[in-house]
Amino acid sequence: MTPPPILGPKGPSSDAASGREIGGGVIPQKVHAVRWRGQAVEIIDQRRLPGRLARRRCRRLEDVAEAIETLQVRGAPAIGVTAAFGVYLGVCRVAASDRAGFLRRLEQGVARLRRTRPTAVNLGWALDRMRRVVRGHPADTVPAWQRRLLDEARAIEAEDQQRCAAIGHAGAALLRSGDTVMTHCNTGSLATAGLGTAQAIFVTAHVQGKRIHVIACEARPVWQGARLTMWELQRYGVPATLICDTAAASTMVRRRIAAVIVGADRIAVNGDTANKIGTYALAILARAHGIPFYVAAPSSTVDLATPSGRRIPIEERSSSEVTAPCALQIAPRGVRVANPAFDVTPHPLIDGIITERGVLRPPYRRSLRALFTFPASGVVRPAPLDDPQRGSSSLRCSASLVPRSARDTVPARPVQLPVRTTSLAGPQRTSDTGASVEVNDEG
Ligand code: MRU
Repeated sequence: MTPPPILGPKGPSSDAASGREIGGGVIPQKVHAVRWRGQAVEIIDQRRLPGRLARRRCRRLEDVAEAIETLQVRGAPAIGVTAAFGVYLGVCRVAASDRAGFLRRLEQGVARLRRTRPTAVNLGWALDRMRRVVRGHPADTVPAWQRRLLDEARAIEAEDQQRCAAIGHAGAALLRSGDTVMTHCNTGSLATAGLGTAQAIFVTAHVQGKRIHVIACEARPVWQGARLTMWELQRYGVPATLICDTAAASTMVRRRIAAVIVGADRIAVNGDTANKIGTYALAILARAHGIPFYVAAPSSTVDLATPSGRRIPIEERSSSEVTAPCALQIAPRGVRVANPAFDVTPHPLIDGIITERGVLRPPYRRSLRALFTFPASGVVRPAPLDDPQRGSSSLRCSASLVPRSARDTVPARPVQLPVRTTSLAGPQRTSDTGASVEVNDEG
């Protein structure tokens, strides 16, 4: 289902990626995790951050698929945008007379990209949109289809920028000066085409002049929190502290945390949310300590075809991410490893879902559907975190605080992917054909 026009608290903003005035302050120039440049999709090779800001141009669909699989580009919305350009790359050289060849390559390309990362629903959402552009115009010529596909990929990119800006405003309205918020993984410019989801909230609040402090969990085993979130927050000048994932509970006891705000890779119809492994643990800890737990995500992350978290496929990644992170062998070779990249936070643990159209509250079956209607009935305007829905910050540690329905939501069986081994700090890979080139920083 296609959502209606984006209506954030301040309406659509074209400033999300440009570094102009937003909400009384200036958002610094964002980094472009993905953008279309010179007949190629240009990405930042995020495996090399924070050490190196290396950009790479993918000129073939296979380069794009490999970049997604190996986490050169990552984060659900950024994956969707990159894959959309990848679909175009897969058919942009088909001869004008070869309609059958075009349609065959389109389907093959969509299928190849769909296999890259199974949990992030923005991927399938973007691929379906790209397919529809062609299937919806069966009488078009090949050049017309090609033009439509590039336009659609650009539209997906632009819409993501607008959604990020709107999420930033909706979420920033929840925060007050002096608040400390905890987050997980990377949800910023590197994970989207815009300013981010949860991280757009932090940056927007900071730019609005609110004194906020972000506590970022490191996000093992790939360390998106340590490597990427801290790098971005440092660039934007947002005060932040990095903690080990295992320090989250004690940090909730020792510091006054106003809220935990995370991103999402897929939100089921009932509100169950898949996000980076460790999110579920944070949600339980937040509930046990009376801290509100929010998910920030665009409507493109909502999967109306998936009824609950049980049906969300969980990507299982290479064991080397755990045993040899950053090319350092920390576990004996040959040990058995489980490496699910995501977990599912059951909806009873989620106090609100911050979207481009405002903050959704339970029951999510109703409010998530309302997100796709116009006007959006049931979508609650942002309210300060100390409203009646905000939990007490006093320590309340009891397993029974986790609702029974939460304990009953068993994440789906992991899906084993043919993911190639990759080193986060490893040397730059170029495609076999040399079709990808490394371009200089800040291009
Ligand atoms: O494996 P990754 O790095 O792609 O996982 C990313 C996350 O889990 C993010 O929290 C999620 O995609 C939201 S990004 C705005």
